[in-house]
Amino acid sequence: MIYVLNGPNLGRLGTRQPEIYGSTTYADLVDLCLVTGKRLGLEVEVRQTDAEFEMIKWLHRAADEGADVVLNPAAWSHYNIAIRDAAALLRGRLVEVHISNIHSREEFRHHSVISAVATGVVAGLGVDGYRLALEHLARFVG
Ligand code: DQA
Repeated sequence: MIYVLNGPNLGRLGTRQPEIYGSTTYADLVDLCLVTGKRLGLEVEVRQTDAEFEMIKWLHRAADEGADVVLNPAAWSHYNIAIRDAAALLRGRLVEVHISNIHSREEFRHHSVISAVATGVVAGLGVDGYRLALEHLARFVG
């Protein structure tokens, strides 16, 4: 199982600042991940939450299962040490994804506290970053 986990406000994709995040809706993003998973022969589960405790619970579950994770920590990227600590428990690979290029935006978005515990990071490629992350992880499955 590969978990695609999305943090706060990403459920609003499509209407949320489309000039930054594009017009793809969250439902389209879920579809994109499931279709990509199917094409690659991967079992993919896509989730989104605005609640920190829920994300931590999902990361603990992924850690217990040794699963790979694609994580868009959204605003938590920039300050949330509890999410980072939970991400650090993972035994599988962790690809951190940002739809926008966080390095070309406001100063407070330039640093992610998650990146140091991630296997790698994709930023600025829009929702295509999720597809690329799944294609990367597919190389290590089976
Ligand atoms: C984001 C970038 C973050 O700075 C922001 O808080 C988000 C989305 C992205 O996907 O570009 O919510 O992670």
